[in-house]
Amino acid sequence: MEFQKLVQQRFASREYEDRKIDDALIDEILEMVRLSPSALNMQPWKIKVVADDDLKEQLYDKSFYQSQITKCSHVLVFCANRDLQGQIEKIINGMKAAGVPEEQINRYKTATQLVLSGSEESVLCEAQKNVYIAVTQAIYAAKSLGIDSCIVQGFEPAAYSEILELPSNLVPTLLVTLGYAADSPRPKVRFPKEDIFF
Ligand SMILES: Cc1cc2nc3c(=O)[nH]c(=O)nc-3n(C[C@H](O)[C@H](O)[C@H](O)COP(=O)(O)O)c2cc1C
Repeated sequence: MEFQKLVQQRFASREYEDRKIDDALIDEILEMVRLSPSALNMQPWKIKVVADDDLKEQLYDKSFYQSQITKCSHVLVFCANRDLQGQIEKIINGMKAAGVPEEQINRYKTATQLVLSGSEESVLCEAQKNVYIAVTQAIYAAKSLGIDSCIVQGFEPAAYSEILELPSNLVPTLLVTLGYAADSPRPKVRFPKEDIFF
């Protein structure tokens, strides 16, 4: 679908048909998410793919009982990876293996110093900002393949960490529910362009 049409037609879907998305289609969406851009190419995210109904039921209780969690086919739990140091090391190792000149690697290291020298809070904030970009990519990737979605911020991150047994470097940040919409798009309510662009 043309991108302009995706933007017009995507909507936050909260009701879904009782129908699972094929694994092959999920893989295509995940591959597009994998290609998301990120600051310094750190890719500071891990995404837990939840399709199991019992697990979704447990998450529903910790998502303010938002019904899209159980009604959807899949929940993508986007976690910020606050181990930026680890991510950067992986990138540098990849650069070395690819034969990138040392001078360029050193320039990259210098550029990463600013984010690495921040407080724990700013490191998490940096990772979470990037997660929001990947989430945006996910909802349009899904729509391009005929899959509807809803971004969900209304959940309890600590409870999600416990249920999904996440390591402490991963912070659940946003969810994307995926499925075949059983509800219809509402008219888009947005501020007029005069209020936005200047
Ligand atoms: C960061 C973010 C968090 C959101 N959290 C929720 C949520 O917890 N529950 C929900 O039903 N919708 C949630 N939404 C969906 C918004 O309500 C929706 O995108 C907005 O009302 C505009 O409607 P549209 O997406 O259909 O154009 C969220 C959207 C964003 C971008």
